[in-house]
Parts: sequence; structure tokens; C-alpha cells
Amino acid sequence: MSLILLASLFPLFSLVSAVVVPSTSLAHSHDSYATTTTPGSWYHQSSHPVHTLFRRAPDDGIEYPPVGSPAWSSGFPRDAPDPAQLPRQWVDALNAAVSAGKIPSIPISQNTPGTNPTYPGGANPNSPGICSATYKCRHVDDIWDAPNGVFASSFDDGPQPACLITPKLVDFLRTNNVTTTHFMIGKNLLFYPSQFQMAFSAGHDIAVHTWTHPYMTTLSNEQILGELGWTMLLIHNSTGGRVPRYWRPPYGDSDNRVRAIAKEVFGLTTVIWNQDTRDWSLTTNGTTPQIVQSSMHEWISGPKSPGLIILEHEVSDQSVSAFIEAYPSIRSNGWNFASLAQVVDGKVYQNADNSTSAVTMVGIMPGSISSASGSSTSTLTTASSSSSSGNTMSAESTNSVKAFNAATSLQGRMSSAKSFFLMALSFLAVNSAV
Ligand SMILES: *[C@@H]1O[C@H](CO)[C@@H](O)[C@H](O)[C@H]1NC(C)=O
Ligand SMILES: *[C@@H]1O[C@H](CO)[C@@H](O)[C@H](O)[C@H]1NC(C)=O
Ligand SMILES: *[C@@H]1O[C@H](CO)[C@@H](O)[C@H](O)[C@H]1NC(C)=O
Ligand SMILES: *[C@@H]1O[C@H](CO)[C@@H](O)[C@H](O)[C@H]1NC(C)=O
Repeated sequence: MSLILLASLFPLFSLVSAVVVPSTSLAHSHDSYATTTTPGSWYHQSSHPVHTLFRRAPDDGIEYPPVGSPAWSSGFPRDAPDPAQLPRQWVDALNAAVSAGKIPSIPISQNTPGTNPTYPGGANPNSPGICSATYKCRHVDDIWDAPNGVFASSFDDGPQPACLITPKLVDFLRTNNVTTTHFMIGKNLLFYPSQFQMAFSAGHDIAVHTWTHPYMTTLSNEQILGELGWTMLLIHNSTGGRVPRYWRPPYGDSDNRVRAIAKEVFGLTTVIWNQDTRDWSLTTNGTTPQIVQSSMHEWISGPKSPGLIILEHEVSDQSVSAFIEAYPSIRSNGWNFASLAQVVDGKVYQNADNSTSAVTMVGIMPGSISSASGSSTSTLTTASSSSSSGNTMSAESTNSVKAFNAATSLQGRMSSAKSFFLMALSFLAVNSAV
């Protein structure tokens, strides 16, 4: 975070805020270097703001605290994020997107929980201006279908407290040599880190399911920022710096405003589904195992075009069992079973291919750095002298982080003289290059 802070505090540094430094993952240090175009304004399409919101460097003096440790969790909200206490960079990125006309100013919806949100003045949720996914309006940028012949697997709402659910799912998938995508609730991850680690270390894909599972269209822009941003940051800080690429709105509730914030600020693609087992209600008699099985079998034995994205949950032994029971017939019906995040276009994270591959920077256009005037280019390579270890707790991470401070104050970040020095070096390197 120190680079961002420096960049945002010093205009000169912001000119080189896109200078890229190599990054490492928890388990896989590597020597991937990259450079990028220096943006005139750091908000634009080809080098998306998300890469400055979550970037990190192996040399910036920051060690990731071990997942599950007090230092790891202390900086994150315990419940619904306070929209008045968000990292300034997120708010800046939102404001820039709003100013650029990228976030539609459609009204916030209202709802009583358990009912579909409605828009003020009876506005049509299926109108092109709103396009609410709750009402099955399919925005062209959202993912509803899998490729033909593919059963694109995912599970929502993990990690869960019941310590048997995730192991049961992970073990079953491991036995079958497959993985899945977990749309995780940030707050759950905070409280049940070992279940998260089980899935991540098995090579499963981690995606965003918001911090507290609200109806997203009922929230203000800043609340949306908090629900997505904190979840992304916690996943980022728990996976060796991976930046999630996909999110699924709780209840499938998204509209043009929500999906634009997800995309324009955080680079997230919205994923819905094309079939719903209602397996989440198995424990509340909302459905029965027989009904879930019969729906699954109908879809599995049905047409292969489009491919299936079935809404499934890792919320109960029953919901996981329902999947396990159906799995053999997914296979026997000839489906290509794959983790959803891997079949869309092969890249699970914005800066990594998957949960075991190397982490690279986000939004990078390899090979060149343009000057602010865009007149010349050069290549900058920064030598990596260290690899960060997520298992080493540094004094800084132990002492620091009150979250909001960590993200918004220079104090503590500047404590890393090394960081400052490296930033200055990068700055000089770029300027001598241009
Ligand atoms: C997340 O990790 C970054 C290091 O990239 C650190 O600066 C920050 O304090 C962590 N965030 C929280 C909220 O702990
Ligand atoms: C999974 O892979 C292992 C090792 O390659 C193999 O022995 C096993 O038969 C495979 N299992 C399935 C269900 O394909
Ligand atoms: C579900 O139905 C069973 C049998 O009818 C009943 O015993 C149980 O209390 C019900 N559970 C809930 C959560 O309503
Ligand atoms: C992860 O990505 C790497 C390429 O970066 C690839 O070689 C590897 O097979 C992928 N792993 C899985 C499980 O898909």
C-alpha cells in the first residue's frame, strides 16, 4: 500500500504510479517483471484502477501476517462496512468513475428482506437503464451461461462455521481430481479462516460474494464499495496477493449501477447462474433432497447448450451432499466438469492464472512505459531481492493495522524507509528513461 499512498500524496509520484514492481505469492516466489503505460490519469480502461488499489511489492517492507492471526484480521470490519471509513483510494477511484460518467445514477432500490427489491416510482427493473439481474435482465457483460458442454461449478456462502462442510466438499472434489470456484463472504472468511485455507490450498478458486451478503442494489455507492473492496482486500491479503476477478451478487441482485462499480472500480466481472436448486433452503424445509435431485437430473440430462451454471451452496451438509449425489450423473451424461472461474477464459484472478500459479501485476501492458506526455517508451526492470513470506509476522504487521489507518494514513507506511527509497529509485529510473 505504501506505493499507492506515496503516489497519491505526491503528484510527482502519481506520474509514475504505474511503475510496476515484481510481486510474489505466498508460496511461489518468482521473477516476473513487468512494466506498464503510465497513465495521464490513472483511471482508464487499459490499466484499470484496480491495479493500484491492491498492488503490492515484495520490497515494500510489508509482510503478510499469517491467515487467521490477529494481525491478519485486525484491520477489517467486523460487520457491515462503514461507508465513512473506506480507504481513500477506493473512494477516489469511485469518484473518478462517477465523474467519467461510468457509473449510472439510477435510483437505489428498496426491499424488505425476502422479497425482490423494487425501484422508486415503479421504475421498470428490466428497462435498459436499470437492467436488474434479480429480474433476469441479462447484461451483456455478465456471465449467466457456461460454454456449451461445460458444467461450470461454483459454491456460494463459504467459508462456513461447521467444520465438516468444506472438508467434505474439498475431499470429494480432490478424490475426483477437480476443483471448484468458491464465492466467499468476506466476513465469513474473517471468522473461519481455516475452512478458507482448506479450499485455497487445495487449488480451488476464490471469488467474491460481498462482505455481509446484502441485497446490493439497495446500497449506496459507498456501501457497495465497502462490500466489494473489503472482501477483495481480505482475499488479496490471504492468497499471496491475488486479486479476485469474479463476484456473484447475493440473491443475484445486481443492476447497472452495482455492476458498473464492480467493474469500473474493482475490475470485477459479475457472475449469475442459469439454474437454481434452492439447495440453500434444504435446512429450512424450503425444498427437499428429492426435489433438488430431480431438478439436477433434469438439467444434467438436458441440452448441453448453453452449458450449466447451477447455483449451489456450501452452507450445510445437505447442500454439499446434494451435489455429491448428483456428481456421477454429471459425469455419465458427458459434461465437462470444471471450476467456473477457470472456464470463462482461463484466468481465475486479475493478476494470476489460478491459485497455484505465479502472481503478476494487474492491468499490465508488458514492455513499455510511456512518459506523461506519451512521447517515449522504455523498459524498466526492477530486481527482486526478496520474496515475501506469508508465514513470517513482521513487527510492522504486528503493530499496525487498525484497518482504516493501514489503508489511509501515511504513518507506518513511511516507517519503511526501504519502501520510500525503492519508490524514489523507481521514480528516478523512470525519469531517466523518459
Ligand atoms: C493488506 O495487506 C497490505 C499489504 O499489501 C497491508 O498494507 C494492509 O494493511 C492489509 N490490510 C489490512 C486491512 O490488514
Ligand atoms: C485422479 O488422479 C489420480 C492420479 O493421477 C488417479 O490415480 C485417479 O484415478 C484419478 N481419479 C479420478 C476419479 O479420475
Ligand atoms: C422441517 O420439517 C420437518 C418434518 O416435517 C420438521 O420436523 C422440522 O421441524 C422442519 N424444520 C424446519 C426448520 O421448519
Ligand atoms: C495454473 O496456471 C498455470 C499457468 O500459470 C498452469 O501451468 C497450471 O496448470 C494451472 N493449474 C491448474 C490447476 O489449472
